[in-house]
Amino acid sequence: MTGLTLTSVLTLMAATAANAYTYPNIPTDKTTPTQTRLAFQELNAVSVAWNTYEKLEQSCVAYGTSPTSLTQRACSSDSSTYPTSRTWFNNVLLTGLAPATTYYYKIDSTNSTTNSFKSAHKPGDQSSFAVNAVIDMGVYGADGYTTTKKRDIPFVPPSLTHSTIDQLVQSADQYDFVVHPGDFAYADDWYLRPQNLLDGKDAYAAITELFFNQLSAVSAYKPYMASPGNHEAACKEVFYYQGACPLGQYNFTDYNARFGPTHPTTFGTASSEAAAQSNATAAQKLALPPFWYSYDYGMVHFVSLDTETDFPSAPDTANLGAGPYGRPAQQIDFLKADLASVDRTVTPWVVVLGHRPWYSTGGSDNICSECQTAFEDIFYQYGVDLFVAGHVHNLQRQQPTYKGTVDPAGLNNPKAPWHIVAGAAGNIEGLSSAGTIPAYNAFVDDSHNGYARLTFVDKNSLKVDMIHSTNGEILDSATLTKSHDQQFVRQTVSA
Ligand SMILES: *[C@@H]1O[C@H](CO)[C@@H](O)[C@H](O)[C@H]1NC(C)=O
Ligand SMILES: *[C@@H]1O[C@H](CO)[C@@H](O)[C@H](O)[C@H]1NC(C)=O
Ligand SMILES: *[C@@H]1O[C@H](CO)[C@@H](O)[C@H](O)[C@H]1NC(C)=O
Repeated sequence: MTGLTLTSVLTLMAATAANAYTYPNIPTDKTTPTQTRLAFQELNAVSVAWNTYEKLEQSCVAYGTSPTSLTQRACSSDSSTYPTSRTWFNNVLLTGLAPATTYYYKIDSTNSTTNSFKSAHKPGDQSSFAVNAVIDMGVYGADGYTTTKKRDIPFVPPSLTHSTIDQLVQSADQYDFVVHPGDFAYADDWYLRPQNLLDGKDAYAAITELFFNQLSAVSAYKPYMASPGNHEAACKEVFYYQGACPLGQYNFTDYNARFGPTHPTTFGTASSEAAAQSNATAAQKLALPPFWYSYDYGMVHFVSLDTETDFPSAPDTANLGAGPYGRPAQQIDFLKADLASVDRTVTPWVVVLGHRPWYSTGGSDNICSECQTAFEDIFYQYGVDLFVAGHVHNLQRQQPTYKGTVDPAGLNNPKAPWHIVAGAAGNIEGLSSAGTIPAYNAFVDDSHNGYARLTFVDKNSLKVDMIHSTNGEILDSATLTKSHDQQFVRQTVSA
């Protein structure tokens, strides 16, 4: 969400106080892994990434299927940083993984623990699984959402009790991995605490470290797939004199350093059809992680998009001076080639993740009409089943909708994509009120922190539950039924 006007920032700036940011302690053993995170980087391969308070000459991870016998080993000499970061970014790719198998891993350090994760279901595996969509999540604690505009989250630092992260930990046996299309940490909102105003550089770095340390309670155990949001773009949410934004805090610098080396291009296709293979080869060359990319998990093809840059009038390029990252039209060409490659006999479901919605309650401020112009016809043409967005800080379920018109089939085999908004994970900006409710909206909750759980029941049935972060309660539940009887979906777009 966008937030403050320049006037309100200047008002805040009038207030002065001692700095308030809290840097995490630097461990005595500077090889101690912090901010650990996993991602599905290739078919049969998971990346392990972490940060250290010194540059590593070589970083290695031991892994295996038994915690007491980590017989495999992978190493990398990639250890990089950026201006204003106190830490170095390290990553190693664990290859040769058997599908749907529990692996144990230990990052090389005198001060690391053995953790575990489950590898991806093989493309085409039709067994049921769930994935959580967690969006717009900020740091928890003194620099985060417990201090201002809190709703149902009690003040309980330094533990994470009752936060979204806590619920993701408590319910770990109920889902396989997490997708997070945009807005991590809210470090760029440092100015919302007047005490930070003279220390933006350090406040940003401190919040970033704190957040990704907190997140590692989830992301060190569950693959955590990122997409870009506006809070990754630049110092803060007002377009202002760039000189006040230190190098390293604009142009998606942290996002790119953190997720660029660990996210996939595409997984290729398991289809035996020549056209699918040539489209998949084209898509792989056009992908640009961590901005736009795709991967397969069992019966689902997931596509991550960049709703911030790299299409006509993209909002963060126009307003925050970020990007573009690809060649002109590269993202759009990627999306077409990637969707054209999807063989529904292998992956019946197609889910797209992107930060900004174009169907939302609350009026035009919440709607990305440029995104709609760029993406909606392509989604329709290739039969995207579900689009998951956030950006608006509440929970919304729309009817399947195309060009503003609700599909008359509703959730029973619609041609139009289904749209949800799940931006209520919790951050310093608070929740967004529902506001005006368009006819296509079927559910909105603007008073609870929460996220969406997508359960792929079988090739015809997808259940979406909105989960309350505080207690795991289901706030809303709906099931989409699709026949998926066409191998390659091509639908005619309307003018
Ligand atoms: C070891 O790691 C823990 C956190 O995982 C940290 O609190 C502690 O300070 C580290 N010990 C040393 C000697 O660096
Ligand atoms: C942002 O980064 C991209 C890719 O590195 C670069 O092409 C672009 O010029 C940068 N923009 C700014 C304003 O620095
Ligand atoms: C997919 O591949 C076919 C056959 O090579 C080609 O005709 C078509 O243009 C491709 N589609 C896209 C969107 O690239």
